[in-house]
Amino acid sequence: MWEIIVASLMVIAEARYENVNIKQDWWETAVFYQIYPRSFMDSDGDGVGDLNGITSRLEYLKEIGVNAAWLSSVFKSPMHDFGYDVSDFYTIQPEYGSMEDFEQLLKKANELDIKVVLDLVPNHTSNESEWFIKSASRDEYYSDWYIWENGHMDDNGFRRPPNNWISLFRKSAWTYSPNRDQFYLHQFGEAQPDLNFRNPVVVDEIKNIIKFWLEKGVAGMRINSVNHFFEIDKDIYGGRYPDEPITGKPGLGPDDYGYLEHIYTKDQDETYEMVSQIRDVFDAITLRNNVTRVMMTDAYTSIKNAVRYYGEGIHSGAHIPFNFALVENLDKDSDARDIKYVVDRWLTYKPLRKQANWVIGNHDVSRVASRFRPELVDAFNMLVLLLPGIAITYMGEEIGMLNGFVPWSETKDPLACNTDDPVNFIEVSRDPVRTPFQWSNGKNAGFSTADKTWLPVAEGFEHLNVANQRSAVRSHYQVYRTLTNLRIRPAFRFGRYESLALNNDVFAFKRWYNDDTYVVVMNVGKTYRIVNLTAFDLIFGQLEVEASSVLSSRTYSDNVQAGYLDLAADEALVLRMQV
Ligand code: GLC
Ligand code: MG
Repeated sequence: MWEIIVASLMVIAEARYENVNIKQDWWETAVFYQIYPRSFMDSDGDGVGDLNGITSRLEYLKEIGVNAAWLSSVFKSPMHDFGYDVSDFYTIQPEYGSMEDFEQLLKKANELDIKVVLDLVPNHTSNESEWFIKSASRDEYYSDWYIWENGHMDDNGFRRPPNNWISLFRKSAWTYSPNRDQFYLHQFGEAQPDLNFRNPVVVDEIKNIIKFWLEKGVAGMRINSVNHFFEIDKDIYGGRYPDEPITGKPGLGPDDYGYLEHIYTKDQDETYEMVSQIRDVFDAITLRNNVTRVMMTDAYTSIKNAVRYYGEGIHSGAHIPFNFALVENLDKDSDARDIKYVVDRWLTYKPLRKQANWVIGNHDVSRVASRFRPELVDAFNMLVLLLPGIAITYMGEEIGMLNGFVPWSETKDPLACNTDDPVNFIEVSRDPVRTPFQWSNGKNAGFSTADKTWLPVAEGFEHLNVANQRSAVRSHYQVYRTLTNLRIRPAFRFGRYESLALNNDVFAFKRWYNDDTYVVVMNVGKTYRIVNLTAFDLIFGQLEVEASSVLSSRTYSDNVQAGYLDLAADEALVLRMQV
């Protein structure tokens, strides 16, 4: 009953914002929710998440105020890198379901007005893809689809790779194919041969794949690892790929990716033109369908390179080039000044008229509660959801899931397995962020009825789960819902932004549109602090609490004084100026 009352009160409260007449496309301030399909919801009891599982939980996305789901790769794959090694881009991984299941998912999402975005990894395929098998056997059509090179025999009669290039997953980036009697390049795992983007037939095929899925009704695609598309043009170097220089970083050996400076295998200039060509595919389909198909790009690179993906001059780039600043440039020791610096830095480099986006986690990086601390989960969700632009949440961050513990014996991530190190693998393993989603305190956290799930469920799920947080008066889940609801207001959708580190511990930012003004303030330090919010221009008098972190003593509609605000350690608040 009270839910209905609250809901109708909210409708009344939101109505006053509806007359604001600024046109925004669906994606421009959307909340994207990343689903790792293997770990979200298992519908058939095999211990592996699947599409029907996702479909059955789409209402949950609606409930937490998400606008779009982007699914980590669901294409057919032998799963050496869990879908990031695709053997057929036109087929759904059978373990996850069928094409009909996917269409059903789309249909249900459509009914709920949730957009679906798919992950595409065009940099490489699986070594089990038909393309690669044919290329390895020098089939005329496919022969030039991958990067093939001769190696040489050393003085001791050992076969040596063409040069010193190292894979992101450690060790040589070259693997010998006896069939073809040549080496193939793989910037990632050895089961992931790199496609040859200098071959126009390959590029056409990638464009066809994108068209295929966009025409099926997918609202966008996240294009993976774009900055690895091109290697240096070897013709400039007399037909041989040159060695990369050694970084000289301490503690790194010739098997480590960081051992070399990747000047020939990453961030090549041709990349940006290719991204622009791919964007044209999205635009062509948008024109025909009247619903914008969104291109996202994924590249871990310098900030100057990262913002080049927005497009340059007449070349359009991605709608949403992922911003990894919060992921890469903040850690446990970061204070208020670091947060301000990292956020404002991105906004400074970003082209003025483009939308920013905020990513705090994904299937490759440690969870927020583990990377920082559990008490800061709400503060970071406030950042992601209330900073200007697009918000991107990795599943589980809305309830503050922690990294799971996956012992060496159960480790699946190829990056971790490649360390051959049963002790230190933990430092690189991505399995801990991929443990099953925690729905309830039931068997396997409500994720699956199987006796064994593909990765073990994280400890502590009995308390840390959706059901628990849903019924609690205060929980990360409740805060998250409040925040997605707040961000519909014009001040957060297109309002202006200003930030201050009020001291080393307290970061605050102001968002305002006309006379509607908010201050988001967070004490990321470990002690109690008193701050004065009148340090912001035009902030004075009293402010009302709109949202507060779980451990805060304040609740909705409490008043605080702008001139004197005492914040407990880890306390985070969204405040609204009284008019
Ligand atoms: C992307 C994915 C990562 C994968 C890699 C190789 O970076 O996010 O999970 O391992 O591509 O395909
Ligand atoms: Mg299953």
